[in-house]
Amino acid sequence: MLKVINVVGARPNFMKVAPIVEEMKRREHEFAPLVVHTGQHYDSMMSDAFFRDLDIPEPNVHLEVGSGSHAVQTAAVMERFEPVLLREKPDWVLVVGDVNSTLAAALVCVKLGVKVGHVEAGLRSRDRTMPEEINRLLTDQIADLLFTPSEDANENLRAEGIPEERMRLVGNVMIDSLFQQLARAKESSVRQVLGINDQEYGVLTLHRPSNVDNPDTLARIIGALEEIGESLPIVFPVHPRTRKALAEFGFEKRIQSNRSLRMIDPLGYLDFLGLYSRARLVLTDSGGLQEETTVLGIPCLTLRDNTERPITVEMGTNTMVGTDPDKIASAAFAALNGSIIEGRRIPPLWDGNTADRILDALVEKERK
Ligand code: UD1
Repeated sequence: MLKVINVVGARPNFMKVAPIVEEMKRREHEFAPLVVHTGQHYDSMMSDAFFRDLDIPEPNVHLEVGSGSHAVQTAAVMERFEPVLLREKPDWVLVVGDVNSTLAAALVCVKLGVKVGHVEAGLRSRDRTMPEEINRLLTDQIADLLFTPSEDANENLRAEGIPEERMRLVGNVMIDSLFQQLARAKESSVRQVLGINDQEYGVLTLHRPSNVDNPDTLARIIGALEEIGESLPIVFPVHPRTRKALAEFGFEKRIQSNRSLRMIDPLGYLDFLGLYSRARLVLTDSGGLQEETTVLGIPCLTLRDNTERPITVEMGTNTMVGTDPDKIASAAFAALNGSIIEGRRIPPLWDGNTADRILDALVEKERK
């Protein structure tokens, strides 16, 4: 029986951990899972809603670190996670994704000699100004097992000198959640509530510091949205960081006065999936949404200059458009004319069975 602590911290972690914990509960003779929530995200719509929608069990331990500078947040997770590890003595800890909680928890594990696996390993944007890139690089250097979503991630790890025996190509665990929840999400009343049931619309998400913490960049993006909005209304669930930035830079009124741009509060997993799965177009700077839209065949414009998920561009429906308003608008109109999704494919192993492969790899590793 393997005792495994599954660490979650921020919104994009929840849909990666849910299928793993569920599979561990199903394989109860092999696994005893615990869930530790660092509390990096704490608002009910950023956290609780996801536990409910994805049926994640109540965390066994909540570290309640909350917001803070990167140093404060990372240090708080480390300080509070260490006694949990000493007390629980797990066989393995699993960390997912690239948020501050991921690196902090992994670092505590290696220092105490507890084996740690990193799910979604090997992704690289090659942009070291992104906090997530630093978290990814360092977590992959120290973790014992690296679960990768696609072959390009293995290549990145090889190029950094990481030995083959630490890598396991397992596919994309977030897609397990997507397939498990899609039917339920389609029942969501979100489009009815928003009054867009019979209408074409786009969906926008925006939260990267490089986009929202800079008023000039944010203004350029809003300019592009205003242009696209003349042809396609856009629903915009607003991340707390972005909400603050829009208020601080005085952009709220400008958006509110535009009838085609509709700001709403962040949505839970099912409502959000219910919304974007029927969208004509998605505009985003999120990582996960680039992958989810690829699987669903929805055109995605990524408002960044680089991506750690190039496979979504090569095989899928993703186009990198940066933050130049003309480029964003012309890509949007090209997408609306249907030129993005021709010949797209779902990447290998993004099939809904990744959690199972992760568990098999853990069992096999223990046998050796
Ligand atoms: C974090 C992750 C990012 C991920 C994103 C998804 C890091 C470095 N960044 O960014 O990779 O894509 O989550 O959302 O780990 N806030 C709230 N309520 C909350 C959480 C945050 O109001 O529940 C506000 C706080 O003002 C906080 C700010 O949002 O200071 C930023 O939160 P933080 O967790 O530091 O980073 P995110 O921008 O959410």
